[in-house]
Amino acid sequence: MMMNGELAGFTIPRLGMGTMALAIEGRPDRDTAIRTIHAGLDAGVRYLDTAWSYYLPSEPGTGTAKDLGYGEKLVRDALASWDGPRDEVLVATKTGYRRTMEVPAFVAPVSDSPESDTQGRDSEGCSRRPGGERQHLQAAGSQYGWMADSRPETMICDAKESAAHLGVEALDLLYSHGPDPEVAYEDQVGALKQLLDEGVIRYAGISRVDNAQIDIAREILGDKLIAVQNQFSPSHPDPEHTMEHCAELGLAFVCWSPLGGFLDAFDQRAYDPFREVAGNHGCSYQRVVLAWELSRYERLFTIPSARNPQEINDSFAATELTLTQDELAMLNASVDARRG
Ligand SMILES: NC(=O)c1ccc[n+]([C@@H]2O[C@H](COP(=O)([O-])OP(=O)(O)OC[C@H]3O[C@@H](n4cnc5c(N)ncnc54)[C@H](OP(=O)(O)O)[C@@H]3O)[C@@H](O)[C@H]2O)c1
Repeated sequence: MMMNGELAGFTIPRLGMGTMALAIEGRPDRDTAIRTIHAGLDAGVRYLDTAWSYYLPSEPGTGTAKDLGYGEKLVRDALASWDGPRDEVLVATKTGYRRTMEVPAFVAPVSDSPESDTQGRDSEGCSRRPGGERQHLQAAGSQYGWMADSRPETMICDAKESAAHLGVEALDLLYSHGPDPEVAYEDQVGALKQLLDEGVIRYAGISRVDNAQIDIAREILGDKLIAVQNQFSPSHPDPEHTMEHCAELGLAFVCWSPLGGFLDAFDQRAYDPFREVAGNHGCSYQRVVLAWELSRYERLFTIPSARNPQEINDSFAATELTLTQDELAMLNASVDARRG
């Protein structure tokens, strides 16, 4: 199987590294995080995935962060302190989401709070919506959440901050993090177009999208739209068949949460067939999952998170794992049965 792929002008292994678990709740200390990224790069990873919103919010209600930019600066610092070829590494980031924090009963709603700036501007001058009511994604039991804030002016401002956090003049690849129910998707994609036109980003991607949104983005961005980042794993097998649509359009498909997700509960039974195959090879079932994903589409990139060097070393070895035709057929049948 062809393990390298072309993305944003880089020819790189199709197994990259998500860095979310190194930057949000549950993250390891910064030194361990840097060592984990170095281990991935030393193993051969050449795609690092981050986001403007990979930080911890620190103020209930607004979600304002003392460590805004933590995840992107971590990637910057890991690359700066790595002794390998920095220019071979594609760094992708995302814009249009922010973190939120549960509002305890005693905290006044943001709009009533004397500290809140009525323009919704933070210290950097970017216009940001307050959290509170709009919070819409939260891991079960977590006090932290996520919300979309993909107004074009916010996306543009945040993307420029991402470039500053990463210490680059232009971002290699910027995804819109996800649709914002309060912003027409055309306008959200229009922000990516403006960022391309201004040279802030070199290529655009979109995330958490259906086939209709892929078509809208393709229409507006043309061949500067190169990748769709959607959830894909044995437990979340892309029921809308967006991967096939990417194949029709020649777009890369980047799997988020390829091992079922970090912090998220998922159906473990979906992984039983992978455990069985792992037994044949004497390796982790996670390695089998990643090798199977790479077999699904020749332009698929998978970006597992890891919280320590051992995990990313184990995962990257999926690029060397050859599954038999019988194993692939069995795994495909087990996932397709769940997929509908
Ligand atoms: N576009 C989006 O909206 C979106 C959403 C979610 C994620 N993402 C991206 O996708 C990336 C990956 O997703 P994810 O972090 O949700 O989860 P994931 O990659 O599905 O799961 C990662 C977790 O699996 C465990 N793991 C990883 N490699 C392993 C191995 N070889 N053996 C055993 N366990 C292993 C680790 O958990 P422990 O540390 O607990 O062992 C790790 O934190 C993120 O970093 C991010 O870049 C994007």
